[in-house]
Amino acid sequence: MSGIEGKVVAITGASSGIGEATARLLAQRGARVLLGARRIGRLNALANEILEAGGSARYQALDVTRRASMQSFIDEATEAFGRVDVIVNNAGVMPRSALEEGEVDEGDRTLDVNVRGVLHGIAAGLPRMRAQGSGQFIYCASKFAVHAISERLRQEAGGDIRVTVISPGATESPTAIARSIAFAIEQPEDVDTSEIIVRPTASPH
Ligand SMILES: NC(=O)c1ccc[n+]([C@@H]2O[C@H](COP(=O)([O-])OP(=O)(O)OC[C@H]3O[C@@H](n4cnc5c(N)ncnc54)[C@H](OP(=O)(O)O)[C@@H]3O)[C@@H](O)[C@H]2O)c1
Repeated sequence: MSGIEGKVVAITGASSGIGEATARLLAQRGARVLLGARRIGRLNALANEILEAGGSARYQALDVTRRASMQSFIDEATEAFGRVDVIVNNAGVMPRSALEEGEVDEGDRTLDVNVRGVLHGIAAGLPRMRAQGSGQFIYCASKFAVHAISERLRQEAGGDIRVTVISPGATESPTAIARSIAFAIEQPEDVDTSEIIVRPTASPH
């Protein structure tokens, strides 16, 4: 299956920002989206908006720091839509200079969400994608650890599974990042876009 139309896309952190904009854009382009985050009221509102616009969406409460929660999220994609073509691992928190301030707890929380959450996504999604013979992981992150994990995943996952890292510069336009994610998905199956770096320009809108 190529392009975006009909693909099943599971999006973590879909309750705001980049994840929300990505869900909206991909649903407009015909993807069947599964929305995950902790604030389910926001997911409910977004899923209703997509359904009212004629799209296909479901949502489920998700805490990426809990492996069982991520597994159940990916299971829901398969139960509801029959497969999972793309996992957009977007859930994340911005670290607040944890090292400088010696805030070990803050560093722990950041690692839990931004790194362990990514590993949970791979653990839940990779067996499904291998069984299907295709799939794509997309990371929305600027963190070094996530680059290292995704490179290893690319080498070990097998030739049919695509891995893309989107590196957003500090941007106020989640829509710009959403378009980059759509670009990576819509490439033909034999094109694996490994990295997209999005930088804001100095020019006004
Ligand atoms: N915007 C930028 O300029 C920029 C730059 C570099 C990197 N990034 C990265 O891009 C990603 C999205 O950024 P954003 O600007 O869209 O941020 P955002 O608006 O704060 O969105 C973060 C999303 O992650 C979810 N999330 C946080 N902890 C979670 C958890 N434990 N389980 C499940 N979901 C969780 C939040 O949902 P709930 O709170 O409802 O769970 C929210 O939907 C993040 O990884 C961020 O670090 C962004």
